[in-house]
Amino acid sequence: MRISVFGMGYVGTVSAACFAELGHTVIGVDVSSGKIDMINRGLSPVVEDGLDEVVAAAVKSGRLRAVADTQTAVLQSDISLISVGTPMSRTGAPMLDALDAVVDDIGAALRDKNGGHAVVLRSTVPPGTTEGRMLPALATKSGRDGDNGLAVAFNPEFLREGCSVKDFRHPPFTIAGAPTTAGYNAVEALYRGIDAPFIRTSTGVAESVKCLSNAFHAVKIAFANEAGVLLKSLGVDAQEAMRVFCADHQLNISPAYLRPGFAFGGSCLPKDVSALVALAKAGHIDLPFLSSVMRANDAHIDRALQAILDEGRRKVALLGLAFKPGTDDLRHSPFVYLVERLIGKGYELAIFDRNVHASRLLGKNREFIEREIPHFDRLLIADLRRALDSAGIIVLGHASGEDLAVLEADHNGRPILDLQGVPQLAQLPGVRYRSLC
Ligand SMILES: NC(=O)c1ccc[n+]([C@@H]2O[C@H](COP(=O)([O-])OP(=O)(O)OC[C@H]3O[C@@H](n4cnc5c(N)ncnc54)[C@H](O)[C@@H]3O)[C@@H](O)[C@H]2O)c1
Repeated sequence: MRISVFGMGYVGTVSAACFAELGHTVIGVDVSSGKIDMINRGLSPVVEDGLDEVVAAAVKSGRLRAVADTQTAVLQSDISLISVGTPMSRTGAPMLDALDAVVDDIGAALRDKNGGHAVVLRSTVPPGTTEGRMLPALATKSGRDGDNGLAVAFNPEFLREGCSVKDFRHPPFTIAGAPTTAGYNAVEALYRGIDAPFIRTSTGVAESVKCLSNAFHAVKIAFANEAGVLLKSLGVDAQEAMRVFCADHQLNISPAYLRPGFAFGGSCLPKDVSALVALAKAGHIDLPFLSSVMRANDAHIDRALQAILDEGRRKVALLGLAFKPGTDDLRHSPFVYLVERLIGKGYELAIFDRNVHASRLLGKNREFIEREIPHFDRLLIADLRRALDSAGIIVLGHASGEDLAVLEADHNGRPILDLQGVPQLAQLPGVRYRSLC
């Protein structure tokens, strides 16, 4: 392919040189004449392990050169990749002026071009940028749209500085977010020769996965460092502890607990997070990250409360009270805390949970529920249809397949707040479906 790459920084230079290595013909564009000059002399403008050799070989082969002029680059390529900087502003939001400038230039250049052209955004941007900002600007400036040869896509870059050439050659996956098949196809053609799963998705998902990946890496580092500091203070070998921790690929290093849904609860998670925070406090160790976890969980319960209040129906049927399905453990159940808040606001509740039977609750479980919700046995309804009967709003905490079938048959157009994550409920005829995430 004939590719133009806008922004010859870390991402742009590595991509340009590595795409040339894959056999494409690449033109780099930058506002810095110094960078253009270096590339044309076969030198990398950024320091990266192994990059000098790839740039030198690409320039020598005639498959990589750099120019300052957008017009030349666009007219002599079939696809433009944008990898200009999107640095952090004072508010924390990324600055998109360099992106806007490049998009305007590419759009204007496209007016003079015959034939189709694809524009692929590779800079890290907030979700919505490709279709909400880049595509309309390109369409306006170029006078084109998807029907006359303009394809767009978002293709995030996952390279890490320091080993970016290796990361380019061996990515975890290649993601193409696009509104049309032409956009996907343009990205797919770029990566022929790279052995990695190719994922086609929406631009919003592709943009989000990039931002979330970096946020998650930051979360992991903050977690590991807080764990390390706390364990060291307790005389525990933190390196060994984290090494063993990471050996669990079922729950720790795995997709477990990474599905957006409702708050956590139960007898272990809140207790053990609180225990670590208490240990840290006792040792005068500040753990801002772990200390905020219970607050983040609580905020999620409040979101559910607000969603119910917003509906303005004072009779609530709640399906599921135990902290998760398949148990009658009510201790620190987020649904119990939700009920408590609703009662505090004067709401009437009918609660159904096929595993919870007031007469069979014993010990700490009974003590907890009696403390949190006095007379809760009066709210517990053994028959789901009866629980749904007079409700103005139905809150789905968790329910079995059998119970969902009853809900599907008996919702009667009342609003359903889905905290379990059963999106097919939204397809029911006449349903008023709402979820938190
Ligand atoms: N650095 C990384 O490891 C990495 C990894 C993945 C994604 N990203 C994202 O990729 C993007 C680029 O990051 P980077 O580290 O390569 O940035 P960088 O600052 O190293 O490079 C950006 C380049 O864009 C050039 N530029 C600015 N305005 C221009 C214009 N109007 N026309 C042409 N060139 C222009 C600059 O001169 C510079 O050379 C950012 O959005 C970043 O968040 C970075």
